[in-house]
Formats: sequence, C-alpha cells, structure tokens
Amino acid sequence: MSDSTSDHGRRRFLIGATSALGAAGVVAVAVPFVSSMLPSARAKAAGAPVEVDISRLESGMKLTSEWRGQPVWVVSRTPAMLEQLAKNADRLRDPGSDESEQPDYCKNPNRSTAEHPEVLVVVGICTHLGCSPQDRMKVGNSEGMPDDWPGGFFCPCHGSKFDMAARVFKGVPAPTNMKIPPHQYLAGGKLLVGADKSKGA
Ligand code: FES
Repeated sequence: MSDSTSDHGRRRFLIGATSALGAAGVVAVAVPFVSSMLPSARAKAAGAPVEVDISRLESGMKLTSEWRGQPVWVVSRTPAMLEQLAKNADRLRDPGSDESEQPDYCKNPNRSTAEHPEVLVVVGICTHLGCSPQDRMKVGNSEGMPDDWPGGFFCPCHGSKFDMAARVFKGVPAPTNMKIPPHQYLAGGKLLVGADKSKGA
C-alpha cells in the first residue's frame, strides 16, 4: 500500500469516527432536552382533557365528572326543559351569554353544541364565590323554590339561581352564567371535556 493510499484510508476513518461521535453527541444532548419538554404526570393529570362515558345518560338525568379539579356536570335535558329555556330570557341577567364564558359553538340559548342541543356540559361552580350549586331541576315549588320556578340550579351559599342552561337569574349575587368548558363528542357515546375540534384535538 502506497503512502497516499494509506493517508486516504486514515482520513476516511477519522471522518467516519468524527461523524459517529457527532451523532452520539446530538443524541446525548437531545434526550434530556426532549424529556424536559414533556409535562410531568401530575401536570398532565391536572390539565389533560377528560373522557366521560355518557352512553347511559338518560333524558332528564345528570352526571358529574371532574376536569382540572373542578366538577363538570353533564345534563341530558328533556324536550320540556329545552322548551322552557326559550321562555326564561326576561328573567335572566345575561340571556345571550355575552358577558359569560363559553366556547363560541355554545353561545346560543341552549349553551350546547349543535350536534347535541339537549346536552348541557358545564363547570358546576357558582360564579359568585365558587360554591357548588345544587340541583333544582323540577319546575315549580318543590325543595324551597317559588311557584314560578322554571327549573335549574340553586347556590345555597348566597342564593344565586341558574336556569337549565346554567344562565344566572337577575337579582342574585352571581355576576355571570356558569362556565361552559371546551368539549367535543367522540364515537361510542363518549364525551371529551377540556378539548375540542376548534383547537385541533
Ligand atoms: S357562592 Fe354562590 S351565591 Fe355566593
């Protein structure tokens, strides 16, 4: 083997060794960087969307789930409940939900998606000081409500009242309607709370 051939071989070996070391260096640096970007299990649990099985939720029934440490109610409203919503407007502080918090696709009188107008998905926390309102879903004067009660929810802390779309009535301390979280429906009777199609979920 001539000197020039031997030099050429050594150069190729050095280039190869340098490239391999370079690649190893990139991997060694990249792994801790990627893992530092992953949310911790605790952060994930606190903020991640939650899947709720609503396949057995019957008309007129309510179930409670949890998202971000807050109660989320899912209510399947009856046709009579939906009909009553249209009659409540004059008694409400924010009937059009202009001052209240909800995704755009729930800014309507039912405060629901067009796909499931009967289903109310709402964070079950009073917008006054954060108590959890109680069910008063029956129309009329049961459970301490007045004769003209149209059905909804009652906050025992300071007496705020909400209708079956979680819209606040006039003359109570709560300033706005209860919050509607982002949500979307999945196959198999599942509801995803905390994410929606508008955010590419
Ligand atoms: S916290 Fe509900 S009325 Fe005050």
